Amino acid sequence: TDGVLVDRYGRVARDLRVSLTDKCNLRCTYCMPAEGLPWLAGPQLLDDDEIVRLIRVAVERLGVTEVRFTGGEPLIRPGLAGIVAAVAGLTPRPRISLTTNGIGLHRLAPALRDAGLDRVNVSLDTLDPGRFRTLTRRDRLADVLAGLAGAATAGLTPVKVNSVLMRGVNSDEAPALLRFALDHGYELRFIEQMPLDAQHGWDRATMVTADEILASLAGGFTLTPDPAGRGAAPAETWLVDGGPAKVGVIASVTRPFCGDCDRTRLTADGQVRNCLFATEESDLRDALRTGADDADLARRWQAATRGKRAGHGIDDPTFLQPTRPMSAIGG
Ligand code: GTP
Ligand code: 5AD
Ligand code: SF4
Repeated sequence: TDGVLVDRYGRVARDLRVSLTDKCNLRCTYCMPAEGLPWLAGPQLLDDDEIVRLIRVAVERLGVTEVRFTGGEPLIRPGLAGIVAAVAGLTPRPRISLTTNGIGLHRLAPALRDAGLDRVNVSLDTLDPGRFRTLTRRDRLADVLAGLAGAATAGLTPVKVNSVLMRGVNSDEAPALLRFALDHGYELRFIEQMPLDAQHGWDRATMVTADEILASLAGGFTLTPDPAGRGAAPAETWLVDGGPAKVGVIASVTRPFCGDCDRTRLTADGQVRNCLFATEESDLRDALRTGADDADLARRWQAATRGKRAGHGIDDPTFLQPTRPMSAIGG
């Protein structure tokens, strides 16, 4: 390699999150408006070869060892399996994962596994069909449940489930979601809602906090700290009723974990972001389309990493939400 992606606080980015599209087939109320968003236009999007080239630079020259595909909804990108196969062919082979809403996963899981996908994280905020329809504005709960089952059958394990709780909507469902995950062998993680929605409607007062989530689980389950620890992962985990099952909480707001961050991000339009909450991006698409060689792309990625801030700054009085919403960043 030519080096690593290191910032001025000494954090090294080994985990690359790649957004493959900003589009989605759900309309979760905490993410985007019912009518959707002005999607990126075709020519703005990296094509499959461009995506693989940038991932290759990250893996072969910059020490990236984990590649996660996100969206929007990554399963709606036609070339997904081919991209996964190309990334699985890199040396050294990175671990490859996917974050998805699960729709279509039942059908696609075997081909994705055969292409080299290692595991999936699936979003599921409620087990009630009516609530699911209210929350996502689509009547697709059955597809998501089938997707989860299909992923487990295909061996895309551990299958993790991501749940965002919203007060007055599904905040009473934490124990039921955990029971469901335990019954199926999925690893559940609750996520504190972050100020990344397209509508800029996030309100700290309505966010369900890690403390509240843990309190609502305490009645039905015994949680003990996971001796394995969290490493650089966003999720803090607990053993459930002595283990081996685990439950996690991703408490970006009330228990931030930026000091251990090992992530770098590439958007579907070829911009490197050094943080989920970055206010600046670095344009690798323009560089690669105007003839930059791999060494040059690697240098640009390293330069973009050096400017990474110490933390997201959500608690600062001057905090400004990034202009791009979660769905265009990749979460
Ligand atoms: P694992 O490798 O399975 O631990 O994946 P993950 O939890 O890092 O990824 P996933 O895509 O499932 O993300 C779960 C939640 O964590 C999402 O809400 C992400 O936005 C959030 N998340 C991921 N990385 C970061 C990060 O660097 N900072 C913050 N604040 N949140 C993050
Ligand atoms: N805050 C926290 N999590 C969010 N997600 C989407 N938007 C937000 C937000 N504003 C979740 C999705 C998915 C995961 C990738 O991020 O529900 O589970
Ligand atoms: Fe890393 Fe930024 Fe997430 Fe903090 S908010 S953990 S610095 S990506």
